[in-house]
Amino acid sequence: MEIITTVRELKKCLHLAKKQGKTVGLVPTMGYLHEGHLTLMRKAREENDCVVASIFVNPLQFGQGEDFESYPRDLKQDSLRAASVGVDWVFAPKVAEMYPQGFENMNTFVEVSGVTAGLCGASRPGHFRGVATVVSKLFHIVEPDRAYFGQKDAQQVVVIQKMVQDLNMNVTIVPVPIVREADGLALSSRNLYLGSAERQAALVLSQSLQLATKLLESGVQESDKILQQMTELIQREPLAALEYLVIVDKETLESVSDIQGPILIAMAVRIGKTRLIDNIIWRNA
Ligand code: PAJ
Repeated sequence: MEIITTVRELKKCLHLAKKQGKTVGLVPTMGYLHEGHLTLMRKAREENDCVVASIFVNPLQFGQGEDFESYPRDLKQDSLRAASVGVDWVFAPKVAEMYPQGFENMNTFVEVSGVTAGLCGASRPGHFRGVATVVSKLFHIVEPDRAYFGQKDAQQVVVIQKMVQDLNMNVTIVPVPIVREADGLALSSRNLYLGSAERQAALVLSQSLQLATKLLESGVQESDKILQQMTELIQREPLAALEYLVIVDKETLESVSDIQGPILIAMAVRIGKTRLIDNIIWRNA
């Protein structure tokens, strides 16, 4: 496995591979790799001749006062992990390589409207513009056949799929199910911020989603009833502060009150200072 830090060098390697007719899978990440990221990479390994994993903490998608500076970074450990699942190239550019004029001086952005209005888009203005712009740049640099995204960031998957469709990008987006700890907590690089009491409190996210599943399985179709019971469960945890909790159409992300078709139940909860997200997709309605 090779670690590549420049666009030029990566393009050179990819050009050679593509000339030989090889397919390329891309796994975009911000690093501090865990089993969730590695699951995406394993799937990319299975489905493509070559795999590129990008590791780039993208300043453009962090708001003021968010954790860009303190976001965990460990390229050495990440490289070992990526190599262990058969990644061919880790692309780990510096900020100046991705934004030579400085990210504050960018002129061109990819802005996906509509599906970015609610959920995380509402509480993190500019976040999805940063995500869509950097992912678009990565797609242009790598020109992958397939790109892999986790359902953990369900809105991100919808935004990227919309971008690809609207701008006729030549890449297949492959969504990958959420990887969880044995007790239900969705894996996240940010889980390391949690103290031990907070780690326990963080279980309210997955527990409230399990409660929703139970209600749906018992035939409840009114979103309000489900949201109310979930909210009560989350509010019983003193360390948790609910940022948003929604039941929406899984494609349009528009609010659903009477559950008939496939829906997404998504939430953001602050556990102390740490903002966590989780969700489920319900298809059997
Ligand atoms: P990051 O948070 O590092 O996540 C990289 C990819 O791993 C995303 O597609 C995310 O959904 C997936 N992932 C994270 N935790 C997961 C879990 N528990 N189960 C399954 N997949 C999981 O998302 C980003 O980075 C950035 O926004 C990025 C797309 C790289 C653009 O900068």
